[in-house]
Amino acid sequence: MAYTGSLTQSDAWKDLAEHHEKIRNIHMRDWFAEDPNRFHNFHLEAAGLSLDYSKNRVTKDTMSMLLRLAQEQDLSTKIQAMFDGEAINRSENRPALHTALRNFSDRDIFVDGENIMPEVRETVHRMEEFCWKIRRNQWRGYTNRPFTDVVSIGIGGSFLGPKLASSALKPYWDSRLSIHYLANIDGSHITEILKRLDPATTLFIIQSKSFGTQETLKNANACRQWFLDNGGTEDDLSKHFTAVSSNIEKATAFGIDEENIFPMWDWVGGRYSLWSAIGLPLALAIGIDNFRELLRGAHDMDEHFRTAPLDQNMPVIMALLGAWYVNFFGVNSHAILPYDHYLRSLPAYLQQLDMESNGKRVSIDGNVLDYDTGPIIWGGVGTNGQHAFHQLLHQGTHFSPCDFIMPMTSHNPIDNFHAMLVSNCLSQSQALLQGKSEEQAINEILATGKSKAEAIVLAPQKIIPGNRPSNTLYFQKSTPRSIGALIALYEHKVAAQGMIWGVNSFDQWGVELGKQLGDKVLGALESTDKGNDFDGSTNGLIQAFHQMQGLL
Ligand code: F6P
Repeated sequence: MAYTGSLTQSDAWKDLAEHHEKIRNIHMRDWFAEDPNRFHNFHLEAAGLSLDYSKNRVTKDTMSMLLRLAQEQDLSTKIQAMFDGEAINRSENRPALHTALRNFSDRDIFVDGENIMPEVRETVHRMEEFCWKIRRNQWRGYTNRPFTDVVSIGIGGSFLGPKLASSALKPYWDSRLSIHYLANIDGSHITEILKRLDPATTLFIIQSKSFGTQETLKNANACRQWFLDNGGTEDDLSKHFTAVSSNIEKATAFGIDEENIFPMWDWVGGRYSLWSAIGLPLALAIGIDNFRELLRGAHDMDEHFRTAPLDQNMPVIMALLGAWYVNFFGVNSHAILPYDHYLRSLPAYLQQLDMESNGKRVSIDGNVLDYDTGPIIWGGVGTNGQHAFHQLLHQGTHFSPCDFIMPMTSHNPIDNFHAMLVSNCLSQSQALLQGKSEEQAINEILATGKSKAEAIVLAPQKIIPGNRPSNTLYFQKSTPRSIGALIALYEHKVAAQGMIWGVNSFDQWGVELGKQLGDKVLGALESTDKGNDFDGSTNGLIQAFHQMQGLL
């Protein structure tokens, strides 16, 4: 039974629905023509980032109504509750305190009556010592040679954040260390990584909050065996294997020395854990000072999110714009388009952050929602996407709001590459806005020497409706500080959206069923002697596996 929640019954929601009817056929071109200051009127700055949101299907009235929606949902109180460490992850009875991991203020933060800040600072200090030892060759491999490679074994939040930040900050890497990420449970991936490495100079970091994730444990065991089969001994393991986990018992049972285990806490969600010791591979690559700068950038954004009025609050504005399209235009996807090679992992990172957080069908109280929540997040790096999926963005029957993300200066300013890259970014958002009218299309065809009759036939193929919304997020350069702010911006956008939609953005029960079924299916794949009682399709696929493996 659908639940009619307070959101769709709220005054602001009803006003927005009515307002949508009035403005849905107005072209943004007209608003730009009417208001020469539209860029300035729909523009925000925070923590070194700038947001141009003028190319959205909104007027000042729309924004006021959206802000009223946020107020009616008590957004400011909910934001405060998150920072204060209230157990806002209600289904797991936990706070969501990733902001404590980058709290450079003197505010103490309490969980169950205990100030967590000393332990947070102590962990960064331990990370610092560890990084110094590895980077200064004080901690070496079993043949006394310095480490050349670090393999980070982890998946989901224990992988995507460090992977994103380390590729975003590649110019800051210590060239003596290569970092490899092993996530997927795929014999080909682990083989491809290990075949290039020397066990004597390879350090492993097992990254798992639970230390119970199937993929991570399988990969970790295989790496351990590879190490032992290729020269290392049991006594050498402690030099080469470290872990980050909240499950010390399981990590020590695996064979990691307790002093080589960095802590994780229940009050940090996996997908929000980059800022904890899960960031260790990143800190090894870029150095602890740069890692601290990343934390500072995130802290700058935290302070903005915590204190800025809602109408000037960048994550809140982005959250409201997203909700406007999902709930009133019926849009179900959102494209992330970074124009920066170093940010190419951003869409994959945001898929977990957004879809695991807000891919929810019930409210935080367990009521089935009568409105849509988190959109499908997709995207890819510009300009590659322009030669692939942008066709659909411009002329498809669906429209997908886009975030264009662009540093204004490059780490590699060769020739006029960067101006060309930026020009592509700006012309894409411009094309989405402007489109191409029938008249323009006809004139363009006539200019090629075709007849009027031919032009009329061909024109519909060339017409581009435009009026397709986008944000442009820009900043000086991809630095640890700006990347910290950028990632925190999206964390807070997602949290604010979840708060408005009334869902719990900090649990992920939907991923559990597949894990539960996995063991039984594995048992069936590994044995041919008993019949299976799965559905017909699964039974058929298991049989195909047996046949193609030559087991039948
Ligand atoms: O995919 C589900 C999930 O629980 C994510 O939320 C988490 O980031 C990932 O698995 C890895 O979990 P762990 O760090 O406990 O291995």
